[in-house]
Amino acid sequence: MANYRIAPSILSANFAKLGEEITAVIASGADIIHFDVMDNHYVPNLTIGPLVCEAIRPLTKAIIDVHLMVEPVDRIVPDFAKAGANIISFHPEASRHIDRTIGLIKEQGCKAGLVFNPATPLHYLDHVLDKIDLVLIMSVNPGFGGQKFIPEALNKLRAVRARIDACGRDIMLEVDGGVKVDNIAEIARAGADAFVAGSAIFSAGKDSDPHRYDTVVGALRAELAKV
Ligand code: DX5
Ligand code: ZN
Repeated sequence: MANYRIAPSILSANFAKLGEEITAVIASGADIIHFDVMDNHYVPNLTIGPLVCEAIRPLTKAIIDVHLMVEPVDRIVPDFAKAGANIISFHPEASRHIDRTIGLIKEQGCKAGLVFNPATPLHYLDHVLDKIDLVLIMSVNPGFGGQKFIPEALNKLRAVRARIDACGRDIMLEVDGGVKVDNIAEIARAGADAFVAGSAIFSAGKDSDPHRYDTVVGALRAELAKV
């Protein structure tokens, strides 16, 4: 079985109790904290920035995976690196100089990822696959949690999986949007090895006090064990 990673998107967490939510979700067996940064410019929503990343950093040793939905990209990269991000991903359309942005992220000591919207072609990988550490396939249009999985993302995942395997480097293939217990196995079969899930995870724990996510994280893992 592949080394599957579950990455709760804190976009769907209770922001009034963000620290507790992060501690609970990691204690429930999740692997990565997915940190969605939206700027009300590249995407029509506004979320959290480096100060929040810095505030949560001491709470966990887990990877903080910063998904930048911002334009421009470069100015904010060092701030997230200083705030303790481990991975910084960006949308290639949002950067004038993609190779330079990748270099900047790595110079700052972080792993670099490229994010593909549902209609963004994969040719952005052509000359940089040997430099990146993560490919993030969006299975919804970016900007909001709780949207429906777009099935075409499965074909895209298969195509990227083939390219990653052919290149032989250790590149994480993450999927983001509409991931649920009932589709995660099919998504894994298409080649993903990291699974962002926001609403599926955080809505499952909201009726327990304090919030616990063991059941839903366990259910996601049980589905992955069938792959
Ligand atoms: C959307 C974000 C996602 C989102 C996923 O722009 O990048 O990370 O929070 O939420 P769900 O899992 O609810 O689709
Ligand atoms: Zn995201």
